[in-house]
Amino acid sequence: MEKTFLMVKPDGVQRGLIGEIVTRFEKKGLKLLAGKIMVVTEEQAKTHYIEHESKPFFGSLISYITSGPVFAMVWEGKDSVALTRSMIGATKPTDAAPGTIRGDYAVEMSRNLIHGSDSVESAEREIANMFKADELVSYEQAT
Ligand code: CMP
Repeated sequence: MEKTFLMVKPDGVQRGLIGEIVTRFEKKGLKLLAGKIMVVTEEQAKTHYIEHESKPFFGSLISYITSGPVFAMVWEGKDSVALTRSMIGATKPTDAAPGTIRGDYAVEMSRNLIHGSDSVESAEREIANMFKADELVSYEQAT
C-alpha cells in the first residue's frame, strides 16, 4: 500500500487547522500511520526542500518552516500520493480549486498551510527525514 508524507505547516498549526485537515484525510478513507507535533530543525528543513535549493525563496522557505511547530504525518492508502495532492490543491492559492484545502483556507503562496509529497520516491525520502521507522504503526499487526 502506498505511503505519503503530509505536513501541516506553521501557519496551519497557528490557525488551529490540524483537526480540520486530519479529518478530511480520515473521511477520504486513508489510514494515519504516524503523526507528531514537532519543530523542524534547519538540517531537516534543508533536506526536505533540497529540490528548491537554488530558488530565490529558499532562505525564506527554510526560515518559515522552522519558525514554529508543524504537524508531520504519514498516511497510507491506494494512490495516496496523488489523492492527497488533489485534496490539498494547487501550490498557488489563487489556482487552488474551492473544496481543496488550499482553495478553502489559503491566500498566500508562502503560507499555503500544508505540504504533500509529489511522488512515492519523495515520500520515502521525506518520511525518513522526519520519522524513525518504529514511529509508524502497522494496522496488520494491530488487528
Ligand atoms: P510546497 O509545494 O509545499 O513546497 C515548496 C514551497 O515553496 C511551496 O509549497 C510554497 O510554500 C513555497 N513556494 C513556492 N514558490 C514560491 C515562491 N515563488 N515564493 C515563495 N514561496 C514559494
